[in-house]
Amino acid sequence: MPSMLEVSELTHTYPGQQAHTAIGGVSFEVTAGQLTCIVGPSGCGKSTLLRCIASLVTPTAGQVRLRGQPVRGVPEDLAVVFQDYGRSLFPWMSVRGNVEFPLRSRKVPRAQRRRRALDTLERVGLSGAEDKYPWQLSGGMQQRVAIARALACEPALLLMDEPFASVDAQTRFELEDLLLRVRAEQDTTILLVTHDIDESVYLGDRVLVLSKSPATVLADVEVELGQQRDQISTRESELFVRLRGEIARTLRNAPQNRGEGDHEGSREDEEPGPDSSGEDRADEPALAGSDSAGSERGPTE
Ligand SMILES: Nc1ncnc2c1ncn2[C@@H]1O[C@H](COP(=O)(O)OP(=O)(O)OP(=O)(O)O)[C@@H](O)[C@H]1O
Ligand SMILES: [Mg+2]
Repeated sequence: MPSMLEVSELTHTYPGQQAHTAIGGVSFEVTAGQLTCIVGPSGCGKSTLLRCIASLVTPTAGQVRLRGQPVRGVPEDLAVVFQDYGRSLFPWMSVRGNVEFPLRSRKVPRAQRRRRALDTLERVGLSGAEDKYPWQLSGGMQQRVAIARALACEPALLLMDEPFASVDAQTRFELEDLLLRVRAEQDTTILLVTHDIDESVYLGDRVLVLSKSPATVLADVEVELGQQRDQISTRESELFVRLRGEIARTLRNAPQNRGEGDHEGSREDEEPGPDSSGEDRADEPALAGSDSAGSERGPTE
């Protein structure tokens, strides 16, 4: 399989008096068509990593290559579903207007824009809602609009930042299966951040486990569950249970990185001091519910 994305030693330090190194030398490669999930503790730098890949933030060091070419500026064939979908939809635009919006800047002709928007809305189960406004929809429906908007761009690479974190469990299962369906139909390469270990195993061909901030890759776990997945039987399978245990253990036993005010990269190799013992923090909900720490705004571009 050809390489779609190569991330090499990516590092980002947010500047200022309280400079903070959010990611500290992250490297991985994604082949075309792969669905890679990323899990990591809250605040470890997952959104920062996606923003750097999308060129919404310029990394302090390291490189991102898309199909072998260094990324400079937001790539045309990349789409992002942001963590906070409520803020990413335009409330003054209809559902169809929101989905069509990124197609306009891509100079897709009007009739084709309209057809693509309606087709994609149908695929995500929103036929009939095209003339409504986002605020007239439930949270799950709004999230479908955000997904439709990204898919309508027919991206080669789709970045999703905790796309199902704010919906109820049943809707979440439906949206997960929708994503698997779409992925099978469209053969898109997907990089999906989640704080939910089970979700990462259910959806992923592979799971990258990140350390605490500044994030580094702790483990790269292959998920050999096959393409056909089922919310009940897959989650009951021996392999699923083993993998989720392996990922949870990796996170719990991870050394503590000290990122606060840090200008350097990862300090993964340092011995934890008496106040920062890994044991002490092992019981923290490593992947507790996530509020957006980021400042994502605007459309899916
Ligand atoms: N614009 C910014 N300026 C300064 N620091 C920032 C900025 N955005 C994020 N950070 C800091 O960088 C670190 C990583 O943030 P990021 O949003 O990437 O984490 P995350 O893993 O996505 O968190 P969550 O799981 O809560 O979504 C956090 O400590 C955060 O406070
Ligand atoms: Mg985040």
